[in-house]
Amino acid sequence: MNVAVDGPSGAGKSSVSKAVARENGFIHIDTGAMYRALAYNAIKNNVKVFDADSVDEMLRNTKLELKLESNEQRVLVNGENVTGKIRTEQVSMMASEISKNPTVRAFLLDLQRNLACEYNVVMDGRDIGTVVLPNAEVKVFLTASAEKRAERRYKELLAKNEEVEYNKVLEDVIKRDKQDTERETAPLKPAADCVIIDTSSMSFEESVAAVTKLIKERM
Ligand code: DC
Repeated sequence: MNVAVDGPSGAGKSSVSKAVARENGFIHIDTGAMYRALAYNAIKNNVKVFDADSVDEMLRNTKLELKLESNEQRVLVNGENVTGKIRTEQVSMMASEISKNPTVRAFLLDLQRNLACEYNVVMDGRDIGTVVLPNAEVKVFLTASAEKRAERRYKELLAKNEEVEYNKVLEDVIKRDKQDTERETAPLKPAADCVIIDTSSMSFEESVAAVTKLIKERM
């Protein structure tokens, strides 16, 4: 069984998907981490992300691996564990930028589909229900107001001692929404057959319960 969880940045997709996977004995796959890992690699190697040839060359020289250790996802790029290094604002913006590139999307699509073939997954991202797993048994579009999402992200960054201003985080959230929804290839949009869950006034536990309920109904 495959569960697709899509939605804009900061809607709580990853943390909700992780908890849902744990509760229901599924594997959680965070596809945003794959785009982030490629973005991190591009920054580290000064790759010109607007230049298709440079990105192609980077992909030819990139080995991306996802490892699951007690249901925790680790991301490795050319053997380097980048799991903790891909959660900065700089990497977020670069991931959104690089994800517009169709070659990058095709590069990750196979990896994502292979994982869904092998395991029962809760996979979260932007295009899981629409493109990656169009036949997923459960499709959820998790969303919340931009202000609420920025507030959650702001608190997360503060907890990690990152120096940030709320207004800048809100600005980035709005910019990323625009980039993700307006790109040509696999834009962020709810699948025709998804269930939209607005978590603006829901607690974390309520969001997890809402998705689990949909899974139980399909089982
Ligand atoms: O979910 P996230 O914030 O970690 O994702 C980072 C960026 O990666 C996001 O701004 C857009 C891109 N992304 C995507 O295009 N498709 C996905 N399935 C997942 C993420």
